[in-house]
Amino acid sequence: MNAAPSRTAEYMALFRALETSQPADLRLFTDPDAKRFLRPRLRAVANAAKLPVLRTWIVALIDRRWPGPRLSGVVRTRVIDDFVVSAVESGCTQLVLLGAGYDTRATRLSKVAGATVFEVDHPATQARKRAVLGASPQRIRYVPVDFERDTLPNALPDSGFKGEQRSCVLWEGVFSYLTPEAIDTTLTALVALCAAGSRILLTYVDQRALDAPDSYPQAWSTAVSDVGEPFQTGLHPSESHAFFARRKLTLRHDESTTEAALRLGIAGAHSIPGFYRIAILEPALAAQPPGSITPADQADYLKAVACMRSHGAPDFPDPSFENGGVTFNIRRPLDPSSPQYKSALARCQKLIPAGLPYSRSSGSASWRSALDVPYRPVFASGTSWSREAS
Ligand SMILES: C[S@@+](CC[C@H](N)C(=O)[O-])C[C@H]1O[C@@H](n2cnc3c(N)ncnc32)[C@H](O)[C@@H]1O
Repeated sequence: MNAAPSRTAEYMALFRALETSQPADLRLFTDPDAKRFLRPRLRAVANAAKLPVLRTWIVALIDRRWPGPRLSGVVRTRVIDDFVVSAVESGCTQLVLLGAGYDTRATRLSKVAGATVFEVDHPATQARKRAVLGASPQRIRYVPVDFERDTLPNALPDSGFKGEQRSCVLWEGVFSYLTPEAIDTTLTALVALCAAGSRILLTYVDQRALDAPDSYPQAWSTAVSDVGEPFQTGLHPSESHAFFARRKLTLRHDESTTEAALRLGIAGAHSIPGFYRIAILEPALAAQPPGSITPADQADYLKAVACMRSHGAPDFPDPSFENGGVTFNIRRPLDPSSPQYKSALARCQKLIPAGLPYSRSSGSASWRSALDVPYRPVFASGTSWSREAS
């Protein structure tokens, strides 16, 4: 990236401002500050979109010129909003926005109000954001970092980041603009910095869209290149698991924004070219301190399971405790997106001490991480998630 504020961040703000102009019952989120980041010409477009007939026309024009990114951008915004809220409810006390751009989650999501937010971004984009927003609450820390030159392990702790607290880390719409070296350095830093039980979400561009220009619309790739932010790095979805595992990160979920839109039942989902993908990761448990589940911990799990069953999730599975870990064997399908399941989870997950599944054992899944929304829409029967001590 050059020394000017990011133009792609401004495009994201435009897409969010247009979504905000939708009627309340149709929009996926509300981002009232988005249009403040727009240059006058784009702000005029966002203002014009308040008139429904003009909005329809503007959106159609953008989608014709750049098929995919607008709808992908708003879908991923909504998916990430849900992810952040779920992570904070599950005990993450720090939110790290890497390449924050004009993301306003720090103030727009009420559930995040108790978390410390670290806005990490290229100095040029960050300076513009701060100039637009003016004074910010003390719990929002600004950390200027160029991923191609600076190192997170120095910058984040200097601004008050606490390595022992669980974090929710977002790297939205940034991966593709960086060199493989900067990506490696940043992922390595995250694994070293983040406490066990932290959650990471990043978006990436499907490598096939970069390799096979004929199969995917190239207009967006040309547009970002024209504003000095060319796509540099993609990832093939079939290789993502191994890619992250080599960097000591466990891939929990990986879907295209098309799949996410279909899952959310969004009109026009089929028309989104699936080149943007959303990956949900956790620091691999092998990288975390070994330990084992104690009898007292087992009692906590059993209490939580009993609570789930009596508060709306009667089929919640039995845990079994072996080799110092816990396994849930799902025998009947569970729908964690159902209101009953969500309300049971909200009531019962506090019975599991924060951080327990991560800090005292290792394995591949946990009460919080595997059974929590929004990882999988429906848990098929016969699935087994295990967590075993190393
Ligand atoms: C497409 S925008 C995404 C912004 C924001 N995450 C969002 O989704 O709205 C790309 C962001 O990556 C940041 N970025 C690009 N290259 C960077 C670098 N070398 N170091 C730090 N940030 C960088 C830009 O400043 C910009 O904020």
